[in-house]
Amino acid sequence: MTNPINIKVGSFAASSSPVSTPSSIHDHFRHVRRHEHEHVPRVLHPIDNEDIRVLLLENISLDAVQCLRAKGFHVDHHTRAMSEDDLIQNIGNYHAIGIRSKTKITANVVKAATKLLVIGCFCIGTNQVDLPAAARAGIPVFNSPFSNSRSVAELVMAEVVGLSRQLFERSYELRTGIWNKQSKGCWEVRGKTLGIVGYGHIGSQLSVLAEAFGMRVLFHDIVNIMPLGQARQVDSLATLLAESDFITLHVPELPETTNMISYSEFAKMKKGAYFINNARGKVVDIPALIDALKSGQVAGAAVDVFPFEPAFNGAPFDDQLNAWASILRGMYNVMLTPHIGGSTEEAQRMIGDEVSQAVTRYLGYGSTFGAVNFPEVDLRAITAEQGTHIRVCHVHKNQPGVLKQVNDALSPYNVEKQYSDSKGEVAYLMADIADVSRRDLNHLRDRISGTDANILTRFLI
Ligand code: NAI
Repeated sequence: MTNPINIKVGSFAASSSPVSTPSSIHDHFRHVRRHEHEHVPRVLHPIDNEDIRVLLLENISLDAVQCLRAKGFHVDHHTRAMSEDDLIQNIGNYHAIGIRSKTKITANVVKAATKLLVIGCFCIGTNQVDLPAAARAGIPVFNSPFSNSRSVAELVMAEVVGLSRQLFERSYELRTGIWNKQSKGCWEVRGKTLGIVGYGHIGSQLSVLAEAFGMRVLFHDIVNIMPLGQARQVDSLATLLAESDFITLHVPELPETTNMISYSEFAKMKKGAYFINNARGKVVDIPALIDALKSGQVAGAAVDVFPFEPAFNGAPFDDQLNAWASILRGMYNVMLTPHIGGSTEEAQRMIGDEVSQAVTRYLGYGSTFGAVNFPEVDLRAITAEQGTHIRVCHVHKNQPGVLKQVNDALSPYNVEKQYSDSKGEVAYLMADIADVSRRDLNHLRDRISGTDANILTRFLI
């Protein structure tokens, strides 16, 4: 295997005289680089060395395909989703599957997935997967919850300016042949106050962008968060509503956030404030928003997410889906977008990178860091010079006595490092052990995978 760090070490050695004690900052870095190769992670492989086959559905980014192929995996890439029946027929051939939101991994699919080791959701949500069924089968599920934060923050800034300048009304008028140049009721955003509800990944990004526009930023969050720039956390939602010219929501959908903005909250806003929801549809009571828009309490709104959203492009957005849809569609001071807050090429690329790396890390190193349905376990890498170390990855039922059985099996060897954790019914143990012969390895594997709590045992060498 070529090792870029070794190449650098070689080139340093050729161009400089040996340095035993670092004396300048440059010498120090040279010295550090010379010794870096000692800590280069070793690339691990499954003991049975079976070729890993990956099925990617729903037109997952080609960067992800490239990343997985670069690891030596065989990748089948399809542009469309698969039905449950098709999945049941095909999934038995694959060790990993990548999906987006349309492919449903049901308990029946999991049952048919006899070789499946890992599921990558190349999107934000994971409710298309039966997560407990996957966990019980020893299959971790990875997603990419924050890759599109920047995309959402940028859309919100566009909406802040768009609402403030009545862009939608002017554009609509001109499209219908009406020239209506006016400045009345159109404002710069500079010097105005943006109130952010939920100062997480998106809210905090937005805070930075808004300040660059010269806005004053207030935020409300249930936890105390260090503000970025000049932003200020306020003591309550009521304070934020009373002081902001623009109010934007960035909280998750939870029982506590359902309808968190309703009649009384709109009443607390400044008259003529603007309201933006790019979080989740159920966080806002839309009939209350419609009332506030009709009375002029809210001057305009941008809504990207809805309690019920069509399942596919081209499907109608009508009153059958949400009883008030046609009223909202008829209001010109409302910008309506079909849940596109996070939909950019950049976000798709980042999702592709993040999920393919998580899948690769699990297949190659056993790390479940970031898995949504699984205990999160990771170990420091086995380094290149630890040639005889092997890694045991043992998924088991979360029941008493398992660690004793496994540690009995490992006890003849030096356990270099070990970590285990549990989540619900499933527990996961990783251990690196030294100096195990190939013969011992098979025996050890039979012993650990033969325990009654065993779900899946993999050895990486
Ligand atoms: P995050 O988890 O990083 O931040 C959420 C913040 O909300 C946290 O700081 C949390 O403490 C706070 N929070 C929770 N409950 C609260 C409450 N009752 N009152 C005040 N603050 C509360 O989440 P992130 O990534 O910033 O996403 C926020 C929302 O945006 C989520 O609902 C997500 O689903 C949605 N989203 C929408 C997208 C779109 O396309 N429109 C794309 C990506 C995310």
